[in-house]
Amino acid sequence: MNDSAAAGPAGQQPPKRQDDEHPGAGRTSAEPAEPQVTPVLSARGLVKRYGHVTAIDGADFDLLPGEVLAVIGDNGAGKTSLIKALTGALVPDEGEIRLHGEPIRFAGPLDARQHGIETVYQDLAVAPSMDIAANMFLGREIRRAGPLGTVFRMLDKKAMRRESAEYMSELGIRLGSIGQTVETLSGGQRQAVAVARAVAWARSVVVMDEPTAALGVKESAQVLDLIRRVRDKGVPVILISHNMPHVFEIADRIHVHRLGRRAALIDPRDYTMPEVVAIMTGALSVTADGGTVVADDDAAAAAGVRRS
Ligand SMILES: Nc1ncnc2c1ncn2[C@@H]1O[C@H](COP(=O)(O)OP(=O)(O)OP(=O)(O)O)[C@@H](O)[C@H]1O
Ligand SMILES: [Mg+2]
Repeated sequence: MNDSAAAGPAGQQPPKRQDDEHPGAGRTSAEPAEPQVTPVLSARGLVKRYGHVTAIDGADFDLLPGEVLAVIGDNGAGKTSLIKALTGALVPDEGEIRLHGEPIRFAGPLDARQHGIETVYQDLAVAPSMDIAANMFLGREIRRAGPLGTVFRMLDKKAMRRESAEYMSELGIRLGSIGQTVETLSGGQRQAVAVARAVAWARSVVVMDEPTAALGVKESAQVLDLIRRVRDKGVPVILISHNMPHVFEIADRIHVHRLGRRAALIDPRDYTMPEVVAIMTGALSVTADGGTVVADDDAAAAAGVRRS
């Protein structure tokens, strides 16, 4: 782990636990205190509208050094839209994004990649007709030495295959042949290639939108293991997931997204899974001091959360 990773979430104050009804009952969200370390990636007041639909509605975001930050929320809450705004895949109508504390506007996903942000999008971006090695080096191909490479732009396929094979085995990902086209792989194996590519190139941030959704138990465990390794290398990870056990297994903090914005930013050690689901649905809300407020008794009871 590098120095910045060592200053990670362990240095943050965990929110105080408070189950009683709070004087601020009825509030639907709260602004967590400003982070004490400079976030690797942050955003304030992001807005994105598609005609009458507001996909991002004043969203804030903070990713700290060395952490795995889970982003959770119902279908349509705006998680993918938020991630697209943070990775240059969409341009927000309003708001500010900062990378390592400096305001930034990404011209597109390639620009974000050049700034060290690698993303595995929910709608997978692998090239099916190309082989595994070509996918690993997509947009960063190794050219052959001398004029064959510089003038004729010929690719050094051997080198790319050798390096890809070495990398896959380092990550413990087993695939048939590195020269196999991606369309001949299973959904889970394709996902593994996309994840491996992101992990291989990321310098600042790895973003994964539902990386385990299409995977079996064994492959999911492998991806979770990869996420841990990336974090331990010092690169923070944003993990969007609907899988609560995975989130609780791996996340250092949880960003709960609801109705286009951050509804809460919590430490999973301070909340139970039903409580987090209740925050996601709006049955519970979190106050600025980390306490919880029952916003909807029936919904909270349905989620199995009892008032103390
Ligand atoms: N390109 C688009 N054009 C129009 N509406 C869009 C577009 N992209 C997203 N939306 C709308 O914005 C809202 C948020 O969508 P988004 O995909 O960000 O949600 P999500 O939280 O990622 O959902 P899921 O959990 O299903 O992946 C939805 O109402 C969606 O229909
Ligand atoms: Mg999504």
